[in-house]
Amino acid sequence: MAKKALVTGITGQDGAYLAELLLQNGYEVYGLARRSSTADVNLTRLQWLGIEGDVRIVDGDLLDLSGLIRTVKDVKPDEVYNLGAQSFVKSSWQQPLLTGQVTALGVTNVLEAVRIERPEARFYQASSSEMYGLIQEPMQSEETPFYPRSPYAVAKLYGHWITINYRESFGLHASSGILFNHESPLRGIEFVTRKVTDAVARIKLGLAKELRLGNIDAKRDWGHSKDYVRAMWMMLQQDVADDYVIATGRTTTVRDMCAIAFKHAGLNMEDHLVIDPELFRPAEVDVLLGNPEKARKKFGWEPKIGLEEMIVEMVEADLKRLARLKAS
Ligand code: NAP
Ligand code: GDD
Repeated sequence: MAKKALVTGITGQDGAYLAELLLQNGYEVYGLARRSSTADVNLTRLQWLGIEGDVRIVDGDLLDLSGLIRTVKDVKPDEVYNLGAQSFVKSSWQQPLLTGQVTALGVTNVLEAVRIERPEARFYQASSSEMYGLIQEPMQSEETPFYPRSPYAVAKLYGHWITINYRESFGLHASSGILFNHESPLRGIEFVTRKVTDAVARIKLGLAKELRLGNIDAKRDWGHSKDYVRAMWMMLQQDVADDYVIATGRTTTVRDMCAIAFKHAGLNMEDHLVIDPELFRPAEVDVLLGNPEKARKKFGWEPKIGLEEMIVEMVEADLKRLARLKAS
């Protein structure tokens, strides 16, 4: 019998790559997706990977406990991956309550559905390096104290601790992955790497002249989503549930990441980059750098795709997308 996985956030970046991995591993994949009035569901990322017909889409919302209970009862998943969230940090200052409801309390809704209908299922929570915020140690591990700096990070911290609490209170096999930034050609355009690769491709094709950014001195530990979803799956294959940092152990400024993209396109960054004070955040996370040693030791996880390779892949994908658009 094939194992069944239920994935919330199936229409997002990680949902798509995780679904692809689970299908390759022989799972039946069920994806929770919000209904929209403009299209049934936005499946463009699943379509990009050519797997939209292989994932079983279930209507649902993280805010709707009764729907989640019904879904878990019907699907009877062996593994539940909670990837759904209001995940854009900057928006969380504009929508702090919604972010709290979806990104924090939404986790409890999924945990409750699992506890009530399928307590034997293994549960994964998408925690975030944003929880370290104003970093308390130069390299962050599972032992580093948290100091969240945005409504999003505060919400994620709640999700992290409620996952641990359900593990300790009810014995659920519930694990939390503290994932550092991870990107890909399927990254949302509002996040800085994709904003940069999209703009570089537009400039290269003569569709734009400038790229406006905020704080380019911020440093992030960037990996590839494909490597990171593999870590999610590996966590749930462990006999004992636990929490793990997933990171590359290398940190780079936004400026240097940006330079990789411009250089690949044969463009001079200084000719196009404009710093826009409007794009700075009310409170910034200046630097993140993760230590993934525990995941390496426990289950041999290591990233395979480096930053340069990933940014080049993203620029090439955006060039292809935009060239197609220009031709149509
Ligand atoms: P993403 O592309 O923004 O995807 C977020 C997903 O959540 C989308 O499928 C979205 O659906 C869904 N969603 C939002 N509100 C919902 C609701 N009320 N009910 C049901 N689904 C809802 O995010 P991602 O980059 O794939 O990240 C996946 C998870 O990992 C998120 O929880 C994120 O916070 C966390 N995380 C990401 C990173 C990273 O660097 N990517 C790092 C650490 C943690 P719609 O398409 O309908 O909006
Ligand atoms: N988005 C964006 N747009 N960021 C900019 C810009 C800009 O124009 N200019 C500078 N930045 C800086 C931000 O201030 C931040 O310091 C950094 O680039 C990265 O921003 P994002 O790509 O938006 O990601 P994030 O680090 O805030 O959050 C992402 O990673 C978290 C894990 O650490 C998201 O994926 C979160 O959901 C995730 O939890």
